[in-house]
Amino acid sequence: MVIQVDLELRARDAGKAVGRGDLIIVIDVLRSGTSILNALTNGAQAAVPATTLEEAYKLHSKHPQYLLAGERGGHKPVGFDLGNSPLEFTSERVEGKILVITTTSGTAALVRSKAAKWVLVGGFLNALAAARKAEKIAAREIIGVSFVLAGEKGKFSLEDFLCAGAIANGFAVDKVHFSDKVQAALLAFKQAENDLTGNVMKAKHAEHLVQLGFKGDVDFSCSLNVFRTVPMYADGKITLHWQTAPSSL
Ligand code: MLT
Repeated sequence: MVIQVDLELRARDAGKAVGRGDLIIVIDVLRSGTSILNALTNGAQAAVPATTLEEAYKLHSKHPQYLLAGERGGHKPVGFDLGNSPLEFTSERVEGKILVITTTSGTAALVRSKAAKWVLVGGFLNALAAARKAEKIAAREIIGVSFVLAGEKGKFSLEDFLCAGAIANGFAVDKVHFSDKVQAALLAFKQAENDLTGNVMKAKHAEHLVQLGFKGDVDFSCSLNVFRTVPMYADGKITLHWQTAPSSL
């Protein structure tokens, strides 16, 4: 069976992917997806996405041992343990911990996708691993795959689109059929990959992060295929899974 691969350009359309019964790969390169990926890869036990600050504070008061992480306007909210800089999520800070994470767009995209049976978190860091994992699950379950781009405040974002192309590039060509939007993302990625960081820097959100002093976050988020880990969101929390065939990476 050929796996149909589609793409929703805006998080508010996540419901369409859920309606198709697809496995969803949520992408928020800058920065929540990359932060979650780095936190879990560095040993965090789980990440619980919250849509609002109120929800995050409430969860934290119920479970004071959880670490509060995230941002509003790019900055760490009052009383939070960590912001949303992927580089903050070192093993010293997060190993063995459960995080509650709330960000402007990324965690909302995750929560909008949660009704799907399979929800993965994809980034440049784990593009190939995410593709292999999605392909394996979709073939077994006989379902399609959809990318849901978090974007920025409901709008299209270049970096998430390029990342969808990077992940699409990891699928075995004879096993998938790409929609026109996925083909476009793949073509864009191929055009951009030789200077991924330089091209992502052209994105509005990257420019904004550089202005806020987070250029290091953009550089780190653009590292391609350095992790074999794939975060999976189920039962309200995101935990880490490995792409099980290391030889294929
Ligand atoms: C978001 O979810 O909107 C982003 O991760 C924002 C950010 O760069 O901190």
